[in-house]
Amino acid sequence: MIQTIRWQEGRVWMIDQRKLPLEKQWYVCRGYRDVIRAIKEMVIRGAPAIGIAAAMGLALGARSIRTRNSETFFKRFREIAGEMEQARPTAVNLRWATQRMLRVATSLESSPVEEIKEALFSESQKILEEDIETNRAIGKAGLPLIPHGGTILTHCNAGGLATGGYGTALGVIRTAHEAGKNIRVVADETRPWLQGLRLTSFELMEDGIPVTVIADNAAGLLMSQKKIDLVITGADRIAANGDVANKIGTYQVAVLARAHKIPFYVAAPLSTIDPLTKSGAYIPIEERDGDEILKIGNKRLAPPETRALNPAFDITPARYVSAIITESGVLRPPFRKSIKNVVASKLSFNTTK
Ligand code: MRU
Repeated sequence: MIQTIRWQEGRVWMIDQRKLPLEKQWYVCRGYRDVIRAIKEMVIRGAPAIGIAAAMGLALGARSIRTRNSETFFKRFREIAGEMEQARPTAVNLRWATQRMLRVATSLESSPVEEIKEALFSESQKILEEDIETNRAIGKAGLPLIPHGGTILTHCNAGGLATGGYGTALGVIRTAHEAGKNIRVVADETRPWLQGLRLTSFELMEDGIPVTVIADNAAGLLMSQKKIDLVITGADRIAANGDVANKIGTYQVAVLARAHKIPFYVAAPLSTIDPLTKSGAYIPIEERDGDEILKIGNKRLAPPETRALNPAFDITPARYVSAIITESGVLRPPFRKSIKNVVASKLSFNTTK
């Protein structure tokens, strides 16, 4: 599987996802500002992947602070963390990773600055390694939900490229394939960035998993023709009540799935659950440049003066979600309760460790 992000010789290397699958180019970040730019400009994308990038970016940022004075270090490090957290607003993994890095630094407040920098670097590597393990656990948890010979519709890219490797929604799909379930995948093209057409199809084909791409607006017809058995998507943030923010277009797929009595599953790590956000209404939706809609590649197709609206995510209300597949097992409705329980057990596990 293709590596999404790595640390090499004091720099952060990311596969440039804007260029895939036609070109495989590495984008090299020398400083934390390069990482922020890479996140904003979609060099790296997908909620868990941008969390990992943020952690590595903060390790780079910490290294760039030239002081031995702990107070000066912390003042600057907190500013950098604040900038990093703002890179994209919807995926909560960015905040999750930033807060985790801040906690590590704070726990070493009285240590020499060089030790804090080293600990931040190690933590960023740990976040990457854990993410891959987490995805495998999500895959295992989701396996019983996948029927033998089933056809799975997915939206956007929730694969190895959107994570440290393996993927969340595609992690479940990969596990089912590895278990010999003989599945097929239908990938929505996912306008305007075409993550389905460019990235999901690329990843699945590399793994020999049968995949067919459709225009986003073909999903309803295929469901009505009984050509889809279930839907699995990833998530950028899951609110305390189970409302799910994910790539724009996910909501309409979920509504269609309900209308056709097809299960709609969301696969996500616990780091994507935001118990501090009560419901989807409080999740900030990123608005991107209208040119992403008006142009295809570098070519503008719309008449001059056309205005475009480009929300990058939408909210699927919890009532349309059949289950949330996490590394700690499958959460079922009522989500307010199942989410509360899993978050509580995770917290007590972390404090007793
Ligand atoms: O704008 P993107 O490409 O970052 O959006 C990504 C998605 O919406 C994914 O489905 C989500 O982050 C889950 S990735 C495991």
